[in-house]
Amino acid sequence: MASIPDLVARAAGGERLVVVTAYDFPGARFAQAAGVDAIMVGDSLGVVVQGRPNTLGVTLDQMVYHCEMVSRAAPEAVVIGDLPFMSYQVSAASAVAAAGRLVKEGGATTVKLEGGERMAAQIAAIVRADIPVMGHIGLTPQSIHRLGGYRVQRDRDRLLADAAAVEAAGAWAVVLECVESDLAAAITGQLTIPTIGIGAGGACAGQVLVYHDLLGLYDGRPMRFVKRYANLGEATVAALSSFAAEVRAGTFPGPEHGFGGKTQPPERSR
Ligand code: KIV
Repeated sequence: MASIPDLVARAAGGERLVVVTAYDFPGARFAQAAGVDAIMVGDSLGVVVQGRPNTLGVTLDQMVYHCEMVSRAAPEAVVIGDLPFMSYQVSAASAVAAAGRLVKEGGATTVKLEGGERMAAQIAAIVRADIPVMGHIGLTPQSIHRLGGYRVQRDRDRLLADAAAVEAAGAWAVVLECVESDLAAAITGQLTIPTIGIGAGGACAGQVLVYHDLLGLYDGRPMRFVKRYANLGEATVAALSSFAAEVRAGTFPGPEHGFGGKTQPPERSR
C-alpha cells in the first residue's frame, strides 16, 4: 500500500512522482493499473465532469461522493481529495471539518487546498488534526475572479513566499500550477517538500495532469501545458456511431448476442 511518507522519501531520492486526476470507479481503476503514484480527485471535476465554466460551484458533498468512488476503486493508492471553494477559506475550524469529511466519508489519504500564506493557518490546523495536506499555489482556479483569468502567474516574490509558507505550515507537497519553468525550478530548489507541477516545467519533483485532458475526453480548448496521450473522445464517438448504425441496419444484435436456439453460447454472468 502506497503512503505519503513513501512518496516523500521517493521524491527526496530523486524519483519523479506521477499524479493523475480521476473522479470515478473506472477512471481510478485505470489510473491504478497504469501504476501512477497518487490519484487526485480534483475539483476540476466541476469543469470536465459537470460541464461548469469553472470550479466554484463544486460542493463538499460532491467531493465526498467522488472521493468515495475513487478510494473504493483504488484502496492501495494515495488518494488526494481536493477541498472545494468555500469549504476551508472561512476558518481553520471549517477547514478541519471539511478535510475530515474527505478522509472519513470519502476515504481520501490526504487533502489538497489552494492558497499560500493566506491559507497557512488552515493548513496547520488540518495537519494538527493528523490529516496530511498538499498545498496548491500559482494559478489557483478557485481565485479565478481575483486573478481575472486562467493565466501564468509571474509574481516571483509572492510565489516564493507562498511556497515557503505552505511548507512551514506542514504540507507534505505543493502543486505549482502555471508558473514559469525557471521560477518553478527556484521554488523546487528552495523547498524540502516535493513540488508537483502542472504547467510549471520539468524541474518539479513530479507532474499532474487532468484525466480528461490527457485522454482527449474533454472537448473544451485545452491549456497549452496539456499533452494529449490519446483521443478517447473521438474513439468513443466512433464506437457509439457504429452501434447506432448497426441497430438501424438491423445487424446488431446478431444471433451470438441472443439467448435460445441450438447454436447459442451459454449465458455468462457479468
Ligand atoms: O482540481 C484539479 O484537478 C487540480 C489539479 C489540476 C492540480 O487542482
